[in-house]
Amino acid sequence: DRLETFIRGIPKAELHVHIEGTLEPELMFSLARRNGIALPWMGVEELRKAYDFHNLQSFLDIYYQGADVLQHVQDFYDLTWAYFERAARDNVRHVELFFDPQTHTRRDVPFETVITGIHGAQVDAEKRLGITSKLILCFLRHLSEESALEALHAAVPFRPWLGGVGLDSSESGNPPSKFKAVFDEAREAQFPVVAHAGEEGPPAYIREALDVLGAQRIDHGVRCLEDDALVERLAREQVPLTVCPLSNVKLRVFPHLAQHNLKQLMGRGLLVTINSDDPAYFGGYIGDNYTACARELGLSQDDVVALAKNSFTASFLGEDDKRRHL
Ligand code: HPA
Ligand code: ZN
Repeated sequence: DRLETFIRGIPKAELHVHIEGTLEPELMFSLARRNGIALPWMGVEELRKAYDFHNLQSFLDIYYQGADVLQHVQDFYDLTWAYFERAARDNVRHVELFFDPQTHTRRDVPFETVITGIHGAQVDAEKRLGITSKLILCFLRHLSEESALEALHAAVPFRPWLGGVGLDSSESGNPPSKFKAVFDEAREAQFPVVAHAGEEGPPAYIREALDVLGAQRIDHGVRCLEDDALVERLAREQVPLTVCPLSNVKLRVFPHLAQHNLKQLMGRGLLVTINSDDPAYFGGYIGDNYTACARELGLSQDDVVALAKNSFTASFLGEDDKRRHL
């Protein structure tokens, strides 16, 4: 319909997408064949059936398994390029892309292999699609801080290719404060900082992400509404939240999209953005997330405009680039 056409066409930034989460089943199987890797699923259909998640961990188990097919520079390039081509169809003009180097280095794929493939596709996306991007290194919070420090140190030679650091994976039981030292060091090296917090974890994790890690943006953050003082602070400081509606439903943070708190977050004056998180696993890219919210939550065209503007405001683009997009 008309609003859907408007949604597809409006220029937008995507600030919360994990490159490993854009691995479509078809590409997973073709890379498995190319690299001689056996997958535990018979085919695309059986794999899609396995995408029946009941919480964050049940998703992560499959997501890390799927990433095994990524072996060579070309694999990371193909994965990233496929995402950019798909994003172009939703008129995404700028992306801040997460990657999880520890997922790959712990299976002996060198950091350099991972980042070289991703970076190559970023360069080509800017040249051929006009999409700018920044790459954000995420530490896996279920692993030790020592392992995170190793990842940060592996990244130092590639500093010019990196636009920030973040924190993802299993939230419950892995508070931001576990990673104080590595984020201290990252901020010392002038990395912009983001962190997943308040997806499954409590509002206290959002506070820690801000106060202990120095996060400038909160990924998810939807549980902030349980803490009024926190909401007031997030609104006052205009800390962006990168909300991922279809992800939240798939991982059962909300029972149904109609129960999602996106509009309450907007109503409280928060700087909210809509993003896809792991689109290959959660059944939709960024345009699908906007469209599903429009349908289930009754977003108006003005809401859509506000959300798309927020996506540039909340980005790590410089002020001149932001103005160009706004
Ligand atoms: N939460 C935590 N870790 C993740 C996610 C997420 O939504 N997606 C990929 N890794
Ligand atoms: Zn995420």
